[in-house]
Amino acid sequence: MSATVLCTLDLPDPFSGIVESVARLRSLGRLPAHDELCDELRRDPVDVLCPQLRDRVDAEVLDAGLPRMRCVSVYAVGYDNVDVAAATERGIVVGNTPGVLTDATADCAMALLLAAARRIREGDEELRAGRFHGWEPTYLLGLELRDALLGIVGFGRIGQAVARRALGFGMRIAYFDSTAPPVDESLRAHVTRVGFDELVRDADVISLHVPLSQDTRHLVGEAVLRRMKRTAVLVNTSRGAVVDEAALVRALREGWIAAAGLDVYEREPELSPGLAQCSTAVLAPHLGSATVTTRAAMAELCAHNAVDALSGTVPRNCVNPQAWGERAPASLLSGG
Ligand code: DGY
Repeated sequence: MSATVLCTLDLPDPFSGIVESVARLRSLGRLPAHDELCDELRRDPVDVLCPQLRDRVDAEVLDAGLPRMRCVSVYAVGYDNVDVAAATERGIVVGNTPGVLTDATADCAMALLLAAARRIREGDEELRAGRFHGWEPTYLLGLELRDALLGIVGFGRIGQAVARRALGFGMRIAYFDSTAPPVDESLRAHVTRVGFDELVRDADVISLHVPLSQDTRHLVGEAVLRRMKRTAVLVNTSRGAVVDEAALVRALREGWIAAAGLDVYEREPELSPGLAQCSTAVLAPHLGSATVTTRAAMAELCAHNAVDALSGTVPRNCVNPQAWGERAPASLLSGG
């Protein structure tokens, strides 16, 4: 019985090369429905499952993978689609791909911030619709970034990478993080830690960089949107459900805030009714990590996590090493 890895969608190079050098790789080449994925795992058991962020890996999927499945290696940094507690209970380690997509995602947040604050999307629409009749002193005025206060919610790797970029635009930086993460030395003198309410009240731009969890679901809802400045811009490149999207549509329509730059949505790929019609919303289709270099680096890390697990080693990026405790399974690799 050779070690077997299953991915749902095909993953970019060098994923296959790394996995196939030690194991049999199967790819469904499509996004399976939840029940199809369970059936597939029961029919043709695997040692490692490599899902991407749209595959829901709940207790039922994990049970379908037992007794053989030892690892779920997610092709993403966010792993809110995996029931990690259930995986831990079943002795299944979960890997993800942090670090390698920090810069690409921070770039995307800045692109959305700039486009929303400087009304680039509205201008694009005006121009294409033939409504641009030449330069005017007060036409499509936006937010000046110099000295504007950027409030970053979640100050991990990506939040700090956004801070670094925003400092280059002369922005002031405040951040809120409930976990007091270590702040890079180069940033310490330039950022201020504040409470969430203060950040919401004072920020000219709010950028969200928290993982989706029970605590962060709808963190930005009607009450928060109503407390933001009417001139403020909201940027979300984290997970859609961190924002109550229906409330955001009302906020944009009724002018509680000035604009939003979004890369993620509550029910992807669907948009909440009315969002597509909001001219002050800049909408990107979950492109945060979408560069050739970054997707390849994610593929490499995802593959290494899988191979580590096959060799009986806790994956190099593992969110629940306690799933194996002292009893790592034996290596499935020849010579291992
Ligand atoms: C992630 O990795 O969590 C992003 O949302 C997609 O790259």
